[in-house]
Amino acid sequence: MTVPSSIVVLTGAGVSAESGLSTFRDKDGIWAQVDYREVATPQGFARNPAKVHDFYNWRRRNMANVHPNAAHFALARLEREFRGNFLLVTQNIDELHERAGSQKLIHMHGEHAKALCASCKARRPWREDLSIELACPDCGAVGSMRPDVVWFGEMPYRMDEIYVALSGCNLFVSIGTSGTVYPAAGFVSEARATGAHTVELNLEPSNGCSLFSEARHGPATKMVPEFVDELLSATF
Ligand code: OAD
Repeated sequence: MTVPSSIVVLTGAGVSAESGLSTFRDKDGIWAQVDYREVATPQGFARNPAKVHDFYNWRRRNMANVHPNAAHFALARLEREFRGNFLLVTQNIDELHERAGSQKLIHMHGEHAKALCASCKARRPWREDLSIELACPDCGAVGSMRPDVVWFGEMPYRMDEIYVALSGCNLFVSIGTSGTVYPAAGFVSEARATGAHTVELNLEPSNGCSLFSEARHGPATKMVPEFVDELLSATF
């Protein structure tokens, strides 16, 4: 690997799996237990908002029981110690990256710890349960508060910034994601198009594994700290 000057890292549910959070598409994953059309689409929310609130309220409350793991800490260390440009893009709505110390972080699929008013579009930090009875603190609309989570069919956040970073990076690393959901699944091709070295770190080969220059397979808590050690010793 040539020494990079600009790194973009993409993470998915696999980076938080060893913290005790379920992935989506593994055998016992979230989408094996719940129909995504009911809890992760605007149509599902319109049909049964109480069910959607229950689903995310439980997950938001559960954040108190989980902690960052060695992979989250290694990525925070990479951000601190790497002297070039760095951006961490996560598809995860948990807050384990920031709890580990990451700051140059984009939550492209939103965050558990925020609420969005479907009426006035205000977004604000939110730790309590959401419900259909709530009034929006900004516009007063009742029943319009929803999790600030990007659902299927909606546009992920801050895509312009992400594409700028991808077009300027010379190392792209994808960690713990099945490579199923676009636009994130297309980031490897964007990075390759500009000549970046591309690396997959995942428990098993992802759907897009063959698109990467290099792939290493194993648990994130082992693979990510090892990779970060290697990278930081190569760059100094
Ligand atoms: P997936 O559940 O699709 O994929 C998780 C990946 O992590 C799989 O390839 C696993 O093999 C891998 N994995 C599991 N345990 C691991 C470990 N300990 N170490 C490393 N890798 C591990 O989750 P995502 O790719 O994140 O979006 O899913 C993408 C999006 O689909 C999510 O953000 C969510 C979901 O629907 C929305 O809800 C909008």
